[in-house]
Amino acid sequence: MFKKMNAIILLCSICFLSCKEAKKEVTEEKAKPKVSLKNTFKDDFLIGAALNTAQYKELDTVQTNLIESEFNSITPENDMKWEQIHPQKDTYFFDNADAYVAFGQKNKMNIVGHTLLWHSQLAPWVSTIKDIKVLEQEIEKHINTIAGRYKGKIDAWDVVNEALNEDGSPRESHFYKVFKGESYIDLAFSLAAKADPNAELVYNDYNLWKPAKKEGVIRIVKNLQAKGIKIDGVGMQAHWSVEGPSIEDIENSIIAYSELGVKVMFTELDVTALPNPWELDGAAVEQSYERYENDPKMNPYSNGLTEEAKQKIAKRYEDIFNLLLKHKDKVSRVTFWGVNDGQSWLNDWPIKGRTNYPLLFGRDNNPKDVYYNVIGLKNQVK
Ligand code: XIL
Repeated sequence: MFKKMNAIILLCSICFLSCKEAKKEVTEEKAKPKVSLKNTFKDDFLIGAALNTAQYKELDTVQTNLIESEFNSITPENDMKWEQIHPQKDTYFFDNADAYVAFGQKNKMNIVGHTLLWHSQLAPWVSTIKDIKVLEQEIEKHINTIAGRYKGKIDAWDVVNEALNEDGSPRESHFYKVFKGESYIDLAFSLAAKADPNAELVYNDYNLWKPAKKEGVIRIVKNLQAKGIKIDGVGMQAHWSVEGPSIEDIENSIIAYSELGVKVMFTELDVTALPNPWELDGAAVEQSYERYENDPKMNPYSNGLTEEAKQKIAKRYEDIFNLLLKHKDKVSRVTFWGVNDGQSWLNDWPIKGRTNYPLLFGRDNNPKDVYYNVIGLKNQVK
C-alpha cells in the first residue's frame, strides 16, 4: 500500500514538473519576436501592403494572420478612390473605408489614405463639370468630407496621384484642363492640410525614377513649398520589372526628393517577371493590350516560374532592398502593392488573365524564397 502511494506521488510530481516545463516553453516561444518583414526592418522603415476589401474585412483567417504579423502599414487598393467613396454628387459610400480604417486602428498600423485626387477611377459625374468655380467647390466638398471624416485616423494621404507626363510636363487631366494649369494641386494640398492637419501629405506617381519626370516632381514640390502649402512626402509607386529601372536612376531620385526636405516613400512596390508589350510606358491603368490576351508567349510561367526566373526576381529584390537600406534615413515606408501573388493587379494588367509573381508571398500565402532573400539582407548590411 505504502509503495503504491509513493509511486503515485512520484508520478504526480513528474507530471507537474513536465507540465511546468512545457508551459515555460510556450511562454518563451511567445516572447521571441517572430521573424517578419515588419520586425526585420523595424529600425529602417515601415513595411506596408495594399489591401483589397476582403482582406481588411478579414474574410480569410490565414490572410488576416499574415497581414497582421508581416505588415505595420496598410493602403486601400481601391476603396478610397473617388469612384468608390463618392460615386454620385451627393452620395458617399463609407462602409468599406470605415472598415479599412477600423482594421488598421485595431492593429495599431500606419494607415494610408489613397487617394484624394486622381484622373483615373474618378466618378464619371466629376468629368462632366466644366466650370472652374463648380469644380473647385466639388473638390473642396470631397476633400473636406473624406479627409475630415478620418481626421486623426489616417497617417498619410496620397493627396494627388499621377499629375505628370513622362517628360515631367503637367498631365492634361480633367482637373488640369478645367483649372487651365496646375493650381488644382495647390488647392488639393491646402484643403487636405486644413481638413487633417496631422496627416502626412504625399504626392504619388509612377516612373518617378525617370530624370525628366523627376524634374516635374521637383517643380510641384517647390511650388507648394514656395506658397507655404504643406507637403510631407513624395510617393514613388515602384511598379517595376526584373529588368529595370536601374538602381542608379532610383537612387538619384531618392536623393533629389529628399534634398527638397520631404520624405521618400515607396508606395506600390511590385516586380513583374512577365514580358511586356512595350510600346507600353509607365503604369497608367487605362492602358490595355487586349490583342495579347491568351497569347502563351506573353504568359510564359502559367505553370510556375523557372529556376532562372526565380533567381532573377530574387536578385532584383535584393538590389532594391539594399538600396532602400542604404537610404533608410530618407525612406520612411516601403509598401507592396498587394499581399500575395494571387491578388496582384499584375495578373490582369496590362494584359488580362496572366500568371504573375511580383510579391513576396505566393498564391498559398506562404513566404516564397525571395522573402527569405529580402529578410536575409539585414544580416549582411553593415
Ligand atoms: C490599381 C488596383 O490595384 C486595381 O485593382 C485597379 O483595377 C486599378 O488600380 N497606380 C495606383 C493604384 O495609384 O491605385 C493602382 O491600383 C495601380 C497603379
